[in-house]
Amino acid sequence: MEPYRPRRSVLYVPASNEKALAKIAQLACDAVIIDLEDAVAPADKIAAREKLAGIFANRPDADHNGRRCEMVVRVNALSSEWGADDLAAVAKAEPDGILLPKVDTPRDVLEVGDVLDDNFAPDTVKLWAMIETPKAMLNIGAIAELGRDPASRLDCFIAGTNDLIKDTGVLATLDRAYLLPWLMQMLLAARAGGLDMLDGVFNDFRDPDAFARECAQAAAMGFDGKTLIHPSQIEAANRAFAPSAQALAEARAVKDAFALTQNSGKGVIALNGRMVERLHLAQAEKLLAKAAAIGA
Ligand code: COA
Ligand code: MG
Repeated sequence: MEPYRPRRSVLYVPASNEKALAKIAQLACDAVIIDLEDAVAPADKIAAREKLAGIFANRPDADHNGRRCEMVVRVNALSSEWGADDLAAVAKAEPDGILLPKVDTPRDVLEVGDVLDDNFAPDTVKLWAMIETPKAMLNIGAIAELGRDPASRLDCFIAGTNDLIKDTGVLATLDRAYLLPWLMQMLLAARAGGLDMLDGVFNDFRDPDAFARECAQAAAMGFDGKTLIHPSQIEAANRAFAPSAQALAEARAVKDAFALTQNSGKGVIALNGRMVERLHLAQAEKLLAKAAAIGA
């Protein structure tokens, strides 16, 4: 199994915003997405793309916790007038990931992978896919399946909730009632494909309480983290997607119980009136490894 890679807080930074770009090294987010797509106006697209080389040349090494913030670039769709040139520029910058907008089919991912291979982009350059169109929802299982083939580079899904709302006409409500079936379907597909699954952005960045509720909802739904639009959202996301103190205590209890010699040969034991199986031990060990990785 691959080591846990935290992606609790993933902040979009418009490639056209110098002030925001200058902040990256000081931020406590697990990853940033340098955006060439929707955060950049058409008139600024080319200038934004030309900034990439400089951004990656001055890439911060490690933060105060000794971790390196993942750096991903969101390109314009390959079908747009900017897509091909974006991809060529990004391949040279060698980011940790390239986020593809408006993915509809597995082919959309495979095509980009071929371009990267042709440009000799190292294997460490992964592909992330925005799931934000009705077609992507209908093809979600087939897209996610690519995650089982390392050659596809596919590593992570992001729910594009703003576009899904726009393209389907569902009402955006605070409890996300009409989005939940799709979000859960994405989560399921991502797990089937061995991919990370990140939640969409919360637009109202001046409402920390509602943001915290949406993070808690996504964490309960099994998401790995949330995409963010503003630095003020980082801390709450880091907290919401880290294991809770209670979950950690339970995980330690399960681990300790199975470590007892009288339980060493057992597949199932009773712990405080609850049935605990070896699958719970595996789950507990995963949670503890996650906590260790983020220093919780
Ligand atoms: N990344 C890094 N820094 C950011 C940032 C971001 N996404 N958003 C804001 N900041 C910085 C600002 O530059 C500002 O810096 P300063 O203190 O040096 O002036 C500081 O944080 C406070 O910003 P604030 O004034 O509260 O926000 P704003 O009104 O300038 O910007 C948005 C609000 C929403 C326009 C801005 O946060 C943004 O562009 N977010 C990303 C949007 C995006 O990428 N969308 C596409 C994907 S959904
Ligand atoms: Mg979008």
